[in-house]
Amino acid sequence: MRTLRLDLADRSYGIHIGPGLLDQADLYRPHIRGRRVVVISDRQVAGLYGERVCAALADYQPLLLQFEPGEASKTLETYAVLADALIEGRFDRRVTLVALGGGVVGDMTGFLAATYQRGVDFIQVPTTLLAQVDSSVGGKTGINRPGGKNLLGAFHQPRCVLADTATLATLPRRELVAGLAEVIKYGLIADAEFLAWIERELPALLAGDDEALQRAIYRSCEIKAQIVAADERESGQRALLNLGHTFGHAIEAATGYGAWLHGEAVGLGMLMAAGLSARLGRLPANDVARVAALLERAGLPTRLPADIATDTLLGFMAGDKKVLDGQLRLVALDAIGRGVIVSGVPLQVLAEVIDATRAGAA
Ligand SMILES: NC(=O)c1ccc[n+]([C@@H]2O[C@H](COP(=O)([O-])OP(=O)(O)OC[C@H]3O[C@@H](n4cnc5c(N)ncnc54)[C@H](O)[C@@H]3O)[C@@H](O)[C@H]2O)c1
Repeated sequence: MRTLRLDLADRSYGIHIGPGLLDQADLYRPHIRGRRVVVISDRQVAGLYGERVCAALADYQPLLLQFEPGEASKTLETYAVLADALIEGRFDRRVTLVALGGGVVGDMTGFLAATYQRGVDFIQVPTTLLAQVDSSVGGKTGINRPGGKNLLGAFHQPRCVLADTATLATLPRRELVAGLAEVIKYGLIADAEFLAWIERELPALLAGDDEALQRAIYRSCEIKAQIVAADERESGQRALLNLGHTFGHAIEAATGYGAWLHGEAVGLGMLMAAGLSARLGRLPANDVARVAALLERAGLPTRLPADIATDTLLGFMAGDKKVLDGQLRLVALDAIGRGVIVSGVPLQVLAEVIDATRAGAA
């Protein structure tokens, strides 16, 4: 087991990474203040791991709540059903929620924990690669509205993160690949050596090699933890973590959420961000080709489908949360391993980048 810490004064917490963690009662116990625990999961993950987590938490009379898997469940309606179950079960402020699942479960459970009785403790037990390297760490929680993703949310840090790498063995390959997009993101924004390591170890990562995955998750969480510790509420550098996300969220919205996985959309979004960086004179063209080659080898999309119009994407980008005072802020690259926040990018340049990605020549 590998462990690292996210340093946030009295809200600091440990991130444990390794196979078989979700059965280990001792890893949960120090973080549970009250006598009751509620495990929240989706039906898919609950069917695979719910019983084992409840067995580990047997001392706390665990209640297992579950909802339908997928992004379409990250709604106010699901939130209300879960909240009502807590209210009906008369859970008090000392309850600890355990988020068992991918980013959808983590974001939903975190938001419920942030708001139930003005805030209760929660533990993240992420079971997708995306959740283990990204969404379970950093305290962003939230749910979607028809007008956009994560528009209702709160910052609420978990008490600890247990990333059980053995759970990745049951993860569909497409989900694993989508998670790799976020791993690649950390290399691109913060660590050129890590990116080179990913390029070398890609076959092992795709084959589900536990040692390679543990190392990828550890380094990803380490980078995220450093950035979040310095800028918890995203007043500056934390925005670097959004590389590819403004483009990616627009792709998800334009395709009606669900057709593309979040990581797939972010992967193509990162290629667009690299293309943008080249157009802004920040990144050599061969580095854009390098990003495209890696995404392609990983099995991530590198082309925008012909039926997504440029104006449609630009429209969604303008509605993104990262618009401040009417200025679209985007993450670009000054080099492989060096992300930079840029604003005031002319719409015309964005349109060119989108068009070029459609033709497959970002
Ligand atoms: N809070 C953050 O900082 C943050 C960061 C990135 C993404 N996100 C959010 O995360 C969400 C995406 O998360 P995700 O990609 O984990 O999707 P997800 O939670 O929908 O999980 C993907 C699918 O895999 C299944 N699954 C999960 N673990 C499994 C396992 N071990 N074995 C078999 N099947 C398994 C789930 O049932 C689901 O069908 C999005 O809503 C996104 O907005 C949040």
